[in-house]
Amino acid sequence: MNMYDLISKKKYGETLTNEEIHFIVDGFTSGAIKDYQMSAFLMAVCLKGMDKDETIALTMAMAHSGDMLDLSAIDGVKVDKHSTGGVGDKTSLVLSPMVAALGIPVAKMSGRGLGHTGGTIDKLESFRGFSTSIPTEKFIENVNKMKMAIVGQTANLAPADKKIYALRDVTATVDNISLIASSIMSKKIASGADVIVLDVKTGSGAFMKTLDDSIALAEAMVEIGNGVGRETYAVITDMNQPLGNAVGNSIEVAEAIQTLQGNGPADLLEVSLTLGSYMLYGAKKAVTVKEAREMLERTIADRTALNKLAEFVRAQGGDDSAVFDTELFPKASIQKEVLADKDGYVTRIITDEIGMTSLVLGGGRETKDSEIDLSVGIRIHKKLGDKVKAGEALATLYGNDAAKVSAAATRYLKAYTLDQQQPEAVKYIYGIV
Ligand code: URA
Repeated sequence: MNMYDLISKKKYGETLTNEEIHFIVDGFTSGAIKDYQMSAFLMAVCLKGMDKDETIALTMAMAHSGDMLDLSAIDGVKVDKHSTGGVGDKTSLVLSPMVAALGIPVAKMSGRGLGHTGGTIDKLESFRGFSTSIPTEKFIENVNKMKMAIVGQTANLAPADKKIYALRDVTATVDNISLIASSIMSKKIASGADVIVLDVKTGSGAFMKTLDDSIALAEAMVEIGNGVGRETYAVITDMNQPLGNAVGNSIEVAEAIQTLQGNGPADLLEVSLTLGSYMLYGAKKAVTVKEAREMLERTIADRTALNKLAEFVRAQGGDDSAVFDTELFPKASIQKEVLADKDGYVTRIITDEIGMTSLVLGGGRETKDSEIDLSVGIRIHKKLGDKVKAGEALATLYGNDAAKVSAAATRYLKAYTLDQQQPEAVKYIYGIV
């Protein structure tokens, strides 16, 4: 077997075998196959595509290129949720304690934020002393004891994907459904869960901007998951505007806590309940999705989910007092309202620009080594379909640097379109795959 022949085979649209795909992934990971050959192969995949079996083979080859987390020491069906990334997306912080409060183990591996989207790990560090660098044994012990633990992604999770993604990024080969689906699923499969619930975002702040592309990605990922024995569901959710009304780090954790207290925004609650319902249903804790939803709603009403969050924060070294008083989170020194420059209805929000506004304030990372300021962020007052008067506040920005706050305000205003015609009502969920 040699790489030249395999590139040629794909160039002519032929189907590669499982062994051939493993040969390519293993060879590239070890360095035996060079960047220029892998680049040619990836471009051939973009032009000729891969079928279901090839996509599964690619996923499994990448998953097995590094550590495969063994969660067999955890009792019960392990469930995990993954989002393709969005602005203001704090659903993990809402649904993980709800699901864990019902006795279903949530063993989560999460990432840090990069670019316009935030990361769960950064947000959790808003709790003083909280750490996600816990050894695997402690992670497993915590999940067994209280059904919930979250760790940072290890460097050796699907290293082949990391190396291939870096190459795709500079060779215009990112936007192929098989390559995207296998990249995401390789990491999820290596993370060890039995049931995987995917939140596939669609819209102006999402990786997939159109509904058709989002459905295609959701179908490809569900096919991979089910094809390798992991029960997988995908929920397609809206990202034409930020989720909830808070964007940043501490401010998002505070909003997640308010949701667990029964005072959360409708869109965040709906998306969290829907994803959480499929987690419970997949774990066979409920016979129907409707029953699962009612169980989750009860964890808010009786505060068991809120108490579970506090227990989880304490178990990972954090100070849980902010769970019961969100005023204790770090506060930014400057507040500035972004005022509407005319009357109208909000008809469009360029959502990734809202994420970039948070980044400009200091709440996000331009490169993976950037420091972030957990106290800065955005409180959104007007969302799609809302009526606005000139001079009314669209949002309040929180920052610690006057020049950054001013630049962020200009950016925020430009992300909004105000028109005279009231737009159609927004959807939170577009479908389940
Ligand atoms: N996210 C991933 O992890 N991989 C991709 O290919 C695209 C988005």
